[in-house]
Amino acid sequence: MELRQQEMAINRSAMKLFVKKKYLFSGLFFLSFFSLSYIRPFAKNELKQPKEDLQILGRYLFYDTRLSYNQTKSCASCHDPSFAFSDGYRTAVGADGYAVRRNTPSLLNVRFRGSFTWGDSSIHSFERQLFFPFFNQHPKELGWENETAIIARIKNIPGYIALFNIVFPKQKTPISLKNIFYAITAFEETIISHASRYDAYLEGNESILTAHEKAGMRLFFSTKLNCGACHVWDRKNKLIPSRFENTGLYNIDRYGDYPFLDQGLFEITKNNEDKGKFRVPSLRNVLLTAPYTHDGSVSTLDEMIDIYAKGGRSIEVGENKGDGSQNPYKSKLIKGFSISKEEKENLISFLNCFTDTGYLKNKRLLFVALKE
Ligand code: HEC
Ligand code: HEC
Repeated sequence: MELRQQEMAINRSAMKLFVKKKYLFSGLFFLSFFSLSYIRPFAKNELKQPKEDLQILGRYLFYDTRLSYNQTKSCASCHDPSFAFSDGYRTAVGADGYAVRRNTPSLLNVRFRGSFTWGDSSIHSFERQLFFPFFNQHPKELGWENETAIIARIKNIPGYIALFNIVFPKQKTPISLKNIFYAITAFEETIISHASRYDAYLEGNESILTAHEKAGMRLFFSTKLNCGACHVWDRKNKLIPSRFENTGLYNIDRYGDYPFLDQGLFEITKNNEDKGKFRVPSLRNVLLTAPYTHDGSVSTLDEMIDIYAKGGRSIEVGENKGDGSQNPYKSKLIKGFSISKEEKENLISFLNCFTDTGYLKNKRLLFVALKE
């Protein structure tokens, strides 16, 4: 598999050179036609779309553990396609094996998000977000201390030298942090899911949902539950403005504190009202992205719904003890409700309509490796 990918990369560079030559020596037309069909794995029109070159390079980088300082983690170690580009851990595990404080969000449709990360409303570009996994130190994610070390690593890998030269042909030093970020960003933009049953429903196929799922949908959008008031659907190609809310998961001192380690948006604004406010997460593929919430402290959807039903989470023992439903900063939309077993099942069956694994068939999205 790895070899195959490498071969494709080499074919690709050969093809670029070849196409240039084709114009120089039009007499070779027959031969070029033959070669292009031989080198099928990369579609012909890729050459006309530099963005796709970037995406291909970005994909190699995304899946490459050599992108971490000790060669243990890639972006995909935490953003794994089989977990909807999340990781299944309560909180992520960095290059040194230490837990990161937050749960890994799914990257599906992340390009349509108004801002990035759970608790910072000021990060609007992938390029800015990328500094965090690359350079975070306590704990390390990819674990780099500086730019020079990454560049030295990449410059030692012949496959990347070739690829960067192809993608940035006119530049003197194609291997730069800027270009690495540029390529990864282009790949991130391709991580898209628009084929859930709920998408089909919104596109007009009303009979695609069962009676139970429709009953669940009515509950989801009801003023009793209010789920739909915060969890807005990521419709095709539409930006979703970020919304930060306190859902009453904690209330440690009765004055609204969340665990010291993570107070959410408050850390950025220093405004008490923002304590415990986290970005409303996407529910796309929510059945595949457990455990839930910013710190992964909710294990199942059943538990999540129980927390909303009680109007917040009550923790009886331990250092996080407190009644979240009384958190003074909690959203007014979370008031608690009663829900029968059957209603809960319907609600979960509706949440399951957000499942779309179609992207697993998109070959341009899945694992690749550049060996040398
Ligand atoms: C050690 C695990 C880990 C690694 C490695 C990692 N991430 Fe993340 N990623 C996370 C966590 C955890 C968050 C949430 C951070 C936060 O909210 O403060 C996150 C957030 C993000 C976001 C914002 C998502 C959103 O919904 O706002 C993007 C985009 C992202 N990562 C892309 C990447 C890319 C690209 C790489 C590789 C260069 C990478 N990550 C490496 C764990 C990881
Ligand atoms: C006031 C806005 C608001 C309302 C109303 C609301 N949510 Fe949420 N929801 C959030 C926020 C914010 C989070 C993240 C909380 C955190 O991490 O601290 C969240 C998290 C979740 C998660 C975890 C997702 C993940 O990937 O971690 C699920 C599932 C969920 N909500 C479902 C629901 C359901 C079902 C309802 C209706 C019963 C509902 N929500 C009502 C704002 C809201």
